[in-house]
Amino acid sequence: MSKTDSNALLLAALSGQPLPRMPIWVMRQAGRYLPEYRKSRKQAGSFLKLCKTPKLASEVTLQPIERFELDAAIIFSDILIVPDAMGLSLGFVENEGPQLANPLQTAKDIAALPIAKASDLTYLAEALELTRAELPSSVALIGFAGAPFTLACYMTQGHGGGEFLIARKMIYSEPKLFTELLAKLVQSVVVNLAMQAQAGADVLMLFDSWAMQVPFQAGRMCIIEPIAAVIKLLRQQGINQPIIVFARGVPQYASELVAAGANCLGVSWQNDLAALRKQLGETIALQGNLDPAVLLSDSATIKQAASAVVKAHGNGRSGKIFNLGHGIDKQTPPENVAHLIKAVREASQVG
Ligand code: CP3
Repeated sequence: MSKTDSNALLLAALSGQPLPRMPIWVMRQAGRYLPEYRKSRKQAGSFLKLCKTPKLASEVTLQPIERFELDAAIIFSDILIVPDAMGLSLGFVENEGPQLANPLQTAKDIAALPIAKASDLTYLAEALELTRAELPSSVALIGFAGAPFTLACYMTQGHGGGEFLIARKMIYSEPKLFTELLAKLVQSVVVNLAMQAQAGADVLMLFDSWAMQVPFQAGRMCIIEPIAAVIKLLRQQGINQPIIVFARGVPQYASELVAAGANCLGVSWQNDLAALRKQLGETIALQGNLDPAVLLSDSATIKQAASAVVKAHGNGRSGKIFNLGHGIDKQTPPENVAHLIKAVREASQVG
């Protein structure tokens, strides 16, 4: 198959066209399991330097594409660059992860919070432009952002780990204030994603990685409404790229996310993709959902587990994209990704 056909593949899957095989990419495909990533990161000096230096961010984005037959590249960046652009000052503590130096502590902090400006994220636009110029036309380029609720979790706590109790407390004690914060994040995410679309992203993805921390009675306020607002505002600005929504661990919101305008839902590895397909009918593309732990096993196990996921996607007309159900683990042997890609190609080949 020619490479140009393959380009059509991810975008064709997103628009529900018939495909010769299932497209595949891997969440966190550029990362620590690759020795070439570790080398670039060492050269850059820090994770943030890697994110903020367009040439290096682009180089790292392309590494998995050079090594494997993947159908998409996801721009190397982080969801926390939006809080950084809103003045919370992102840092990275070795072996601990990202930290925001100025977490939100008072109502005054939230009232004073500015909307992110594209001019503070130009390094990301440049990284996308450089990457699109280098990528084979066969490979789609994905831009992304954190969804408002997940960003609010980090912005109130200042770091990962724990259960984001500050954000969860605010849902009950200061719902108006929390909604105000989410509204500012909607605006900031729209600025960021519109900029990425204009810089060459073919597809946009929203990561609501902590959606499962939302109490059920606040699902509309914290997940559905902010995501619907982001999609609506992007569409109003004429941004037409397909949008993948990965709301982790909350299949109960799938129908509402479809109604919110998502073009594809990412499915977590804990959830039943076949059941979700049955529930949603042929209305939307689904992406997922192999357990990343499978990639720590052997080629026979990978083959079997990958075919089970291909099978779960079913024989329907609507879009099917193979991916993991969350990010690849840093201990994954790179050759297992090659085994996975081969297995998915074989299992999903039509005719
Ligand atoms: O998928 C890709 O290849 C693109 C790059 C990407 C990164 N972060 C690079 C990264 C993407 C899409 C993200 C998104 C992201 N960042 C999310 C949402 C996705 C998810 O996993 O649920 C979240 C919650 C973050 C915030 C974040 N960044 C955390 C919690 C951490 C530390 C976790 C860890 O694994 O150490 C990061 C750091 C980070 N972002 C790394 C990478 C490759 C590891 C940095 C390093 O040590 O080199």
